[in-house]
Amino acid sequence: MNILGIESSCDETAASVVKDGRQLLSNVVESQIDIHAKYGGVVPEIASRSHLEAILPVVNQAVESAFTDAVVAKSDLSALSSRDYWQNIDAIAVTYGPGLSGGVLMGSLTARTLARVHNKPLIAVNHVLAHVYANWLIETEPEFPLLALIVSGGHSQIAVFESHTDYRLLGQTRDDAVGEAFDKVAKMLGMSYPGGPSVSRAAESGNPNKYRFPKAKMSDRYDFSFSGLKTAVLRTLQTEVGKSYDFPSFQIAELLNNQQISDVSASFQKAALETLVDKLEIAASEFQPKSIVIAGGVAANSSLRNMIHERLGGHIEYAPANLCTDNAAMIATAAFYQSKAGQNLADSLTLK
Ligand code: KG4
Ligand code: ZN
Repeated sequence: MNILGIESSCDETAASVVKDGRQLLSNVVESQIDIHAKYGGVVPEIASRSHLEAILPVVNQAVESAFTDAVVAKSDLSALSSRDYWQNIDAIAVTYGPGLSGGVLMGSLTARTLARVHNKPLIAVNHVLAHVYANWLIETEPEFPLLALIVSGGHSQIAVFESHTDYRLLGQTRDDAVGEAFDKVAKMLGMSYPGGPSVSRAAESGNPNKYRFPKAKMSDRYDFSFSGLKTAVLRTLQTEVGKSYDFPSFQIAELLNNQQISDVSASFQKAALETLVDKLEIAASEFQPKSIVIAGGVAANSSLRNMIHERLGGHIEYAPANLCTDNAAMIATAAFYQSKAGQNLADSLTLK
């Protein structure tokens, strides 16, 4: 079964065709990062307009590149029409949320229209849940019960899955998501959006024990909080440059030297990642999962992977970075397993 996935809930316009939930036939991601970088974060109105411009070319490229070899082998190249490609698609899946409303609207209207025009079933997919399914696109298939750490720019969650349809949220962030904390610390350090990869790069030449940043203690043991950590970084930076606590955060970076930037990056990253892995370790001993997976943009962080490997041992296979950050292959894969279980088939007129 070939499913076309469509994703547009934040700043990536993406489309992908996945066969039987596991085989990537095409994966097109049009990133808006360069457009938003100069504003220091995603501007929802600009994101919606960019999705509008990109979505049909991105979808067409995904559908055509998935089947070019098969279609060209059968037909005379000059007589090819888009119908030849679309007849290979069995269903269309789309992110219905959570996300920026303009972007979600753009993707879902496109998917609904295409489902009607080409007469295909439509499957509505939850974006956060879909991140977990990037782990079905790698060689080793995850097994249930499965423990998932989902860490992105919008979410920090731990969930336990007994099956594709039976899953339970153990805990989540009470304030900022961990990716958001990476982005905000990066901004204070003068790095451009999205800051996670830059902080992680700077951390490589820093001392993770230079500053002691707090790890929030929560009454619900699987919940997270990152806003205190972010404030602690700000206070440390203000002190480091010899200013008072009302000194504006956006003026700090120009007063820092490279070593200070690296040391703060490394010490912040250590506190943030230990917070995640501490909880993952407790959950792993409570639930004894057969598989542990990490998902979402922050899962691309190599120090997080090393820390999990050191503390939890065993064999964990990680998805490549381009499947951890937003993409549509994870949407198509999630849709395959959900629809197989009879879930989330949507009406193309109402998406309900
Ligand atoms: O999953 P994603 O692409 O979008 C959301 O659904 O939010 O995640 C983006 C987030 C951003 O906050 C970005 O800074 C973070 O993932 N990120 C990283 C790394 N790569 C991306 N954070 C830490 N280390 C990385 N290597
Ligand atoms: Zn995401």
